[in-house]
Amino acid sequence: MNGKTPGHLGIIMDGNGRWAKARGLARTQGHLEGLKAAKRIVKAASDRGVSYLTLYTFSTENWKRAADEVGFIMGLVRQYLRAELDFYRENSIRIRHAGDIGGLPPEIREDIARAMEDTRDFTGMQVILALNYGGRDEIIRAVNRALNGAGGPDAGFTEARLRSFLDNPDVPDPDLIIRTAGEFRTSNFLLWEGAYAEYHISEKFWPDFAEADLDQALASYGRRDRRFGGIPSPGAP
Ligand code: IPE
Ligand code: IPE
Ligand code: MG
Repeated sequence: MNGKTPGHLGIIMDGNGRWAKARGLARTQGHLEGLKAAKRIVKAASDRGVSYLTLYTFSTENWKRAADEVGFIMGLVRQYLRAELDFYRENSIRIRHAGDIGGLPPEIREDIARAMEDTRDFTGMQVILALNYGGRDEIIRAVNRALNGAGGPDAGFTEARLRSFLDNPDVPDPDLIIRTAGEFRTSNFLLWEGAYAEYHISEKFWPDFAEADLDQALASYGRRDRRFGGIPSPGAP
C-alpha cells in the first residue's frame, strides 16, 4: 500500500453518449452533463491535492464523428474556457493544453491561449486539456520538432531527448489513469507518458462520475504496489 495521492491524474472521460442514450436524450445532452462532471472533478481533485490533472477531452480520432456533435463539443470547451476564470483564480488553477493546437479552429486556439495566459501564474493544480490529442500524434509531432530544431537528427535519441519534444515535458508522467464507462483501452491517451501509469476502470458513465467515485479510484491507487519493472516492495500485497 503506497497510501499516496497521485501527483498526476489522467482521466479518459468516456460514456457521455451512452449516458444520453440510456435516457432517450441526444448525445449532445450527454456532453453537456459531461462538462458538469468535469467541473465537479476538477474541484475535487484540486481539493484532494492532485498536482496535475489531464482531461482527455477530444481525441485526434474524434473528428470522425458527425459535424454537429464535434461543433457542439468545441462550443462547450469554449464556454468552459471563457466562463471559469473566477473559479480558476479562487482555486489557483493553471490551464494548459496537450495535443495538436494547430489542428483546432482559430477561435478555440485563441480561447486556449487566453486561458493559459490568464492562469499562467496560478500555482495550484494544473489542468491539462487534452484536446485534439492523440498519443501517436504527439510522438510524431515530437519527432518532427526534433528534426526541425536544435541538435538535429544526428544528435540521436534518448528517452530524455524524445521527452523534451513532447507537448509538456516538464509535467511528470501520470501516476493514475481513470477511464469511465467500463472500457478497458487507452484509445491513444498518453502513450509515452502513461508507460507505468496505474489504471482504474469505473463502470460509471462520465456524467455520473462523482466525488465518491474519484475517492474510490484514489483509494485503489493507494493500495497498489508500483514496481516499475523491479521487484515487489517488502510487505506489498
Ligand atoms: C466521451 O464520451 C466524450 C468524447 C469522446 C468527446 P463519448 O461521446 O465517447 O460517449 P460514448 O462512448 O459514445 O458513450
Ligand atoms: C476516448 O474516448 C477519447 C476521449 C474520451 C476524449 P472514445 O469514445 O473516443 O474512445 P473509443 O472510440 O471508444 O476507443
Ligand atoms: Mg466513447
